[in-house]
Amino acid sequence: MPGFDCSVVRSEFPSLERGIIYLDNAASTLKPRRVVEAMREFSYTSYANVHRGVHTLSMEASKRYEDAHETVGRLVGGSWDEIVFVRNTTEAMQLAALSLALNGVLRGGEVIVTEADHHSTLLPWVRAARLGGASVKLLPVDDRGVPRWDLLGELLSEKTRVVAFGHVSNVTGAVAPVEDIAKAARSVGALVVLDSAQGVPHLPVDFRGMGVDIAAFSGHKMLGPTGIGVLWARRDLLEELEPPLGGGGTVSRVRLSPSGGVSIEWDEPPWKFEAGTPPIIEAIGLAEAAEMLREIGMSEIARHEDFLTEKTMKLLEPLHEEGVIRYVGPSSPGERHGIVSFVARGRNPDEIGLLLDRRGIAVRTGLHCAHILHDRLGVPEGSVRASFYIYNCPSDVEALATALEDILLRKAR
Ligand SMILES: Cc1ncc(COP(=O)(O)O)c(C=O)c1O
Repeated sequence: MPGFDCSVVRSEFPSLERGIIYLDNAASTLKPRRVVEAMREFSYTSYANVHRGVHTLSMEASKRYEDAHETVGRLVGGSWDEIVFVRNTTEAMQLAALSLALNGVLRGGEVIVTEADHHSTLLPWVRAARLGGASVKLLPVDDRGVPRWDLLGELLSEKTRVVAFGHVSNVTGAVAPVEDIAKAARSVGALVVLDSAQGVPHLPVDFRGMGVDIAAFSGHKMLGPTGIGVLWARRDLLEELEPPLGGGGTVSRVRLSPSGGVSIEWDEPPWKFEAGTPPIIEAIGLAEAAEMLREIGMSEIARHEDFLTEKTMKLLEPLHEEGVIRYVGPSSPGERHGIVSFVARGRNPDEIGLLLDRRGIAVRTGLHCAHILHDRLGVPEGSVRASFYIYNCPSDVEALATALEDILLRKAR
């Protein structure tokens, strides 16, 4: 397919009819009609709880819920039984970290994370290391906020149990060299854990092919609903690990043991990791979103976002050259994907966000759940972030550049 027409794609998103220029896609994406419609149709025709009954509705809902695992798995090169539905990336990462801690995988070892990581990666691993008897090593960032992957070899040792890192930084847009990192981590027997919250929605992904063992991403950042995220892990890992959360849907049989205790037979993956009634309607919505992304084509989406990133940075070049703005992250568009963050000399990021909002432009401002990264870059008040998706057209980034010139050069209110 020779590209796609963003103005055609836009017509699928009713919220754009308000006239807002939406450049806050790294926080959450807008919802297309077909996702909302799929959830509505399922709710009205086939909804029941899943895996809990033999009646027609329950069987139908279970089949569609299982199919949703398959559809989402296909988008990331995984099989249906490697897809665990949870609430979001944060919960997926938490579940992975706690599983490894609970199963003794971390004991006496080291976990490597980076100074650039989102708190959803950093905090679960810091806490799991504490609980699981491991220590944490932080890979430093350079003066652009990009992890010093060249120093990874110095941190890796036979004690490394996990290397956890972001696929695409939600602040700098820098893309991690996942295959190289995975190769290095695996050479010391460490597990490779990828926060792909900003990867899966924007790039072609094949976790297994990239050498990843565990990955996390969110439905709401890829056209799907809130309330659903994905933990992907190699099937053999999911099989080996005891889940940290027990409850309905996780077991094949629970019995009184002869000693009077309770014996648990865990179900097969992915069910043993999906404790309690899962996000059923949300899974239908996420599968529809995954299908829409697949139809448009992930390579096309990546190309479109690269184009918008490059165009934005070109339009902002005069402000950058004059020192009015400073990029957070690489100043070359080729080294970042779909995200342009910056600070403006003498101006507070929130103030810029509010002035842009008055002009109908939505961006994110603040610390973007990456406090250490902003501290390291000497911008503890945070940054302004524009992030793109399939419904953004060149006119959106032109409007952003014009508004920024207005705000930053003319001191407009
Ligand atoms: C890189 C990255 N990781 C994790 C998250 C957390 O995602 P969620 O809030 O859906 O758990 C985000 C969200 O902004 C993110 O950008």
